[in-house]
Amino acid sequence: RPLVVAIDGPSGSGKSSVSKEVARRLRVAYLDTGAMYRAVTWDCLDRGLDLTDSALVEAAARALDLELSTSADHESVAVRGHDVTAEIREPRISQSVSAVATNLGVRNELIRRQRALIAVHGRRMVVEGRDITTVVARDAEVRLLLTASEEARMRRRGIQLGGTQTAEDLHQQVIERDLKDSTVASFSQAADGVYTVDSSDLDFEETVEAVLAVVHA
Ligand code: CDP
Repeated sequence: RPLVVAIDGPSGSGKSSVSKEVARRLRVAYLDTGAMYRAVTWDCLDRGLDLTDSALVEAAARALDLELSTSADHESVAVRGHDVTAEIREPRISQSVSAVATNLGVRNELIRRQRALIAVHGRRMVVEGRDITTVVARDAEVRLLLTASEEARMRRRGIQLGGTQTAEDLHQQVIERDLKDSTVASFSQAADGVYTVDSSDLDFEETVEAVLAVVHA
């Protein structure tokens, strides 16, 4: 039977690691939609495109030759045959991705591809991003907003980036990306019919269990 679990949330909410683990335990596929926006950004920068040229960026998204793993056990992203799994997580991509993600032509193209991937997997998939509960899979069996206090999000971000930059820099970067992303989605309140799981005071395992409790409710 179909089981689409749509999970939205801001950066540092633990969304990616939690979504992956939930997919493993449910034995369904996993789709990281943020990786798709990052892949388009990598492609545009690699081609030297001006990210403010919306027609060119949209065309790049439509033509994007992307291979993305949909298994929670194996992370891999390739663009035009280049393995960009690690590169798309670099700060230069994080800093430019919002410019690409606010392009409506890009969004339409990626939303179309995301829906096709969900269908290909027989609608058995955990899908995570910013607009999954509200746009991509409004019809999902389970819709969830994973939130966390700003303090908890910063803490997790710091850990994820390996603590190589000062806490202040990190804080500023996350605030800036949130602000740029606020046109894509606002997480101050869940949409109608969307459950909220606040992970601020939960560890990883507790957050996974809280999400699975919603799935099994
Ligand atoms: O690093 P983080 O987990 O915060 O972000 P991500 O999930 O890798 O997504 C990177 C960027 O892609 C976000 O900052 C958004 O600009 C964009 N994005 C989006 O617009 N819509 C989605 N469904 C997923 C990501």
